[in-house]
Amino acid sequence: MSKITVIGTGYVGLVSGAILSDFGHTVICVDIDENKIEGLKNGIIPIFEPGLERIVKNNYYYKRLDFTTDIRSAIENNDVVFIAVGTPPADDGSADLRHVLVAAKDIATHMNGYKVIVNKSTVPVGAGKKVKAVVQSILAEREADHSFDVVSNPEFLREGSAIQDFMHPDRVILGAESDRAINIMKEVYRVLYINETPFVETNLETAEMIKYASNAFLAMKITFINEVANVCEKVGADVQKVAKAMGLDGRIAPKFLHAGPGFGGSCFPKDTRALARIARDCGETMSLVETTVEANERQKMKMVQKILDAMNELADKAIAILGVTFKPNTDDLRDAPSLVILPELAKRGAKLKVYDPAGRKEGDWRFSHIMDSITWCENAYEALEGTDATIILTEWNEFRNLNFEKFKEIGAGEYFFDLRNIYDKKTMLDKGFKYYGVGV
Ligand code: UDX
Repeated sequence: MSKITVIGTGYVGLVSGAILSDFGHTVICVDIDENKIEGLKNGIIPIFEPGLERIVKNNYYYKRLDFTTDIRSAIENNDVVFIAVGTPPADDGSADLRHVLVAAKDIATHMNGYKVIVNKSTVPVGAGKKVKAVVQSILAEREADHSFDVVSNPEFLREGSAIQDFMHPDRVILGAESDRAINIMKEVYRVLYINETPFVETNLETAEMIKYASNAFLAMKITFINEVANVCEKVGADVQKVAKAMGLDGRIAPKFLHAGPGFGGSCFPKDTRALARIARDCGETMSLVETTVEANERQKMKMVQKILDAMNELADKAIAILGVTFKPNTDDLRDAPSLVILPELAKRGAKLKVYDPAGRKEGDWRFSHIMDSITWCENAYEALEGTDATIILTEWNEFRNLNFEKFKEIGAGEYFFDLRNIYDKKTMLDKGFKYYGVGV
């Protein structure tokens, strides 16, 4: 059993802390936000992640998991300290390291013996060494002679399936400078190690690069199929079939070939920009990544154009919007295509009847500037009532089997924009809809 501290109870920190305690370790999660910590002790989970509440409550009950604002005791009492604080994008696209370095300072200030400092936040290449330098300088100030190691252990958690991703990862990346640190980390992930999860042991910089290269590649893969989809529409090809056949080639693989309105979320938009920046800063250009960023922005606007081309005029048209989150099973709207598409429709005079199973809370403030054009609804059918068009923006399961018989009854219109390709075009045309997918 390892004794672990996790600094930061955001998405990554909370999921990591909870599951490491589920693996049998003793874990304390630290945050400066007292309300959040009090809430967590009472089983209030500040993020939307299926399955997380049960794991948190269970491990808290069995005292394997605890929450505190007292960073000092959390550092003094444990040997492995994860840094899982936010790295928001700075104005130039690079990741802002401020919170990571504050955490490093806190660790060094309270260090009382050997510690492994594990970087889980997504940080620019070289950040591990910066953390090391900060810790060294504070220890020197303190005239304290404690040894420590810095490890880069990037996460690959998808929102909505983070538990599964943490418990059954495709690989665990450990970037470190000593065998001592690697062995301690193997003990932390022993459950996975004995299940034969591949472990990649490497240096700090390589581990940091693996994270960016992986995310940028996936973002590029989505963008590639989105651009193929746009061409498919023009030449009469079906991108669904193209993607399926491409994916059957083992070298390509089937995942992340689903055409849509553009990728969003907390990682791909941020990480692609950051990697492009890292490249530029060292005198290189990652042109594919830069193009991915641009093409993804274009894709969102193409969706607006698709709707305009079909409907001509949007003034006073009522449109049902099904889904605003960047993907299903999350309440997260960060960089969601809806943030671009809804205001563009509103600008042209459309009245939007919006329903999302979990996005209302964040949507309320994100769309406050177009509040006059939006009516929030309690379910899909309320949103569909008396509309001219339906737009599926997020593929929540509950939108996959809409009752089309009801459409006439409630006066839902014939335009159907399925921006996630969850319906079959021919079936929808046969039902009398003016159906528009992406690349079909
Ligand atoms: C992603 C990575 O998958 C994860 O490994 C990383 O560490 C964090 O970022 P996440 O952002 O939660 O996870 O969601 P993901 O499922 O990867 O989807 C990201 C975006 O791409 C969503 O907007 C989604 O709708 C879009 N997407 C994904 C597509 O448009 N097509 C696809 O085929 C796959």
